[in-house]
Amino acid sequence: MINEFELKFKAVLANELLARNAVMSFLSPLNPSYETLCEFKTIISEGVSNAIIHGYKFDNSKDVYLKVIVYENDVEISIRDFGVGIDDVNEARMPHYTSRPDLERAGMGLTIIESLSDSLHISSIPGTGVKLIIRKKLLPQYINE
Ligand SMILES: Nc1ncnc2c1ncn2[C@@H]1O[C@H](COP(=O)(O)OP(=O)(O)OP(=O)(O)O)[C@@H](O)[C@H]1O
Ligand SMILES: [Mg+2]
Repeated sequence: MINEFELKFKAVLANELLARNAVMSFLSPLNPSYETLCEFKTIISEGVSNAIIHGYKFDNSKDVYLKVIVYENDVEISIRDFGVGIDDVNEARMPHYTSRPDLERAGMGLTIIESLSDSLHISSIPGTGVKLIIRKKLLPQYINE
């Protein structure tokens, strides 16, 4: 482990921006490409919005937990909620599956996270919440002086 931070914030959709910007600021000193930084931001947005929308059903008294660890060659992101949980994780991971078609969700968030990362582990206990553990390669690129 080289560096690490944790953030706890209320389940308010506006805090998606807080989480995205925190991760962006944290990773910027490693000089990731613009494209890679955008991929990290997308991963955070999808994971955090799921916690707020599905896990907590917009109950803004609840807390979302984000943890980011930078290792030698990759980054681990954990996104945790203590909401309703997922009954069938395999079903939830399927492209286009959404439990909320009424909200015009596309059912693509978890699929997008999976496609932009190197691994996505989902643990869920119904009634206890969801923890996503995402790993994504990021090689530090030092600026030549
Ligand atoms: N943190 C969570 N808590 C409870 N259920 C979740 C959570 N994250 C995902 N799910 C379940 O998994 C389903 C699929 O999630 P996914 O992000 O792929 O699609 P979506 O959120 O429904 O749509 P989109 O992300 O495209 O707007 C959700 O509809 C929901 O039923
Ligand atoms: Mg989603």
